[in-house]
Amino acid sequence: MKIVVTGGAGFIGSNFVHLLMRERPATNVVVMDKLTYAGCMENLREISSDPRFSFVQMDICSPEVADAIAGADVVVNFAAETHVDRSIEDAAAFVRTNVEGAWRLLESARARKIGRFVQIGTDEVYGSLGPTGKFREDTPLTPRSPYSSTKAAADLLALSYAHTHKLPVIVTRCSNNYGPYQFPEKFIPVMVLRAMRGERLPVYGDGLNVRDWLHVEDHCRAILAVMERGREGEVYNIGGDCERENLHVAQTILQSFERGYELIEFVKDRPGHDRRYAIDCEKIKAELGWQQRWNFETGLQATIAWYQENAAWVENLQQQNRDYFKRHYDDRPAVRQGLGAAPQP
Ligand code: NAD
Ligand code: TYD
Repeated sequence: MKIVVTGGAGFIGSNFVHLLMRERPATNVVVMDKLTYAGCMENLREISSDPRFSFVQMDICSPEVADAIAGADVVVNFAAETHVDRSIEDAAAFVRTNVEGAWRLLESARARKIGRFVQIGTDEVYGSLGPTGKFREDTPLTPRSPYSSTKAAADLLALSYAHTHKLPVIVTRCSNNYGPYQFPEKFIPVMVLRAMRGERLPVYGDGLNVRDWLHVEDHCRAILAVMERGREGEVYNIGGDCERENLHVAQTILQSFERGYELIEFVKDRPGHDRRYAIDCEKIKAELGWQQRWNFETGLQATIAWYQENAAWVENLQQQNRDYFKRHYDDRPAVRQGLGAAPQP
């Protein structure tokens, strides 16, 4: 069995490769990654000398992709631009990688008659929920950020290749992940690293936006189940059954460091900020017998410990992305500090 994992030097892709190497001894893995700001070879260091592992540095938009995936049994496409805030600043790379790159991979998989193609998607394609309800696989797609719009385009392209070209495609749509190797621009690592250093925690808007958190290992096990036993042409939602307000998560992290809530700093809201995500993942549970193993509070403590033990990894990425972190965190004006009255709209 030979599996090509695109974007395998990123957060979820590298966790998936680690899981494959641990639990599927007869599998050879090829990671294809462009190594953008978010890709990091260090994420794969532990398995880099394993003879079942190989790496190719390649942009998924490049025409050479077809030759690179030839002979693979499965392609799992994690490669993407993934940060909503960056997509608001400049969506060009999102359109290129998330849409054109997905198309290039699909065309290449068709040309090389790849036996299975798993497109890794996000729940953000469903838009934003009010206080009740959950996203189901048949919920209409109403993406609202440049990031989620390009991911929706990729999902639709992938499903169109299943329908029109009979390419054996499956699409997954997962909620927010957390865990080891997450790039320190995303919410949980930002909060953990800043709480660790006693710096202010920038919470967008009123902090009452809700995300449905899933440990990355649970996500990877779900992808494995879909890859091995999922039905072609189908979409599978994956979620944490774990809705938390951002403010609550920030407070829990501060408690872990025995720091006061006065470190919370409300900052200007993200434009178009989705209010609530919640996933109905009954389909994957019923069909494939998958279920979450991690409890959020335990998973969060394990993640905090991982960031404490991997300070050099963090330092390295923060140095390489100094300008972004300065612009986003050091130069960002506070709307209100501490936990007083609600911020003015
Ligand atoms: P990430 O940003 O940590 O990693 C993305 C990886 O893709 C990096 O290694 C990067 O170098 C690579 N990449 C980017 N552009 C590329 C290109 N043109 N060619 C080849 N490689 C390229 O992302 P992540 O958080 O690990 O997300 C992985 C996938 O899972 C994405 O498709 C994302 O939309 C999806 N997803 C993420 C979450 C989450 O909470 N992080 C939730 C649901 C779905
Ligand atoms: P993020 O990790 O960017 O994921 P997404 O927007 O794709 O769900 O953000 C998660 C939530 O945390 C989202 O509601 C925005 C909020 N947030 C903050 O309040 N402060 C921050 O510094 C970041 C990065 C995010």
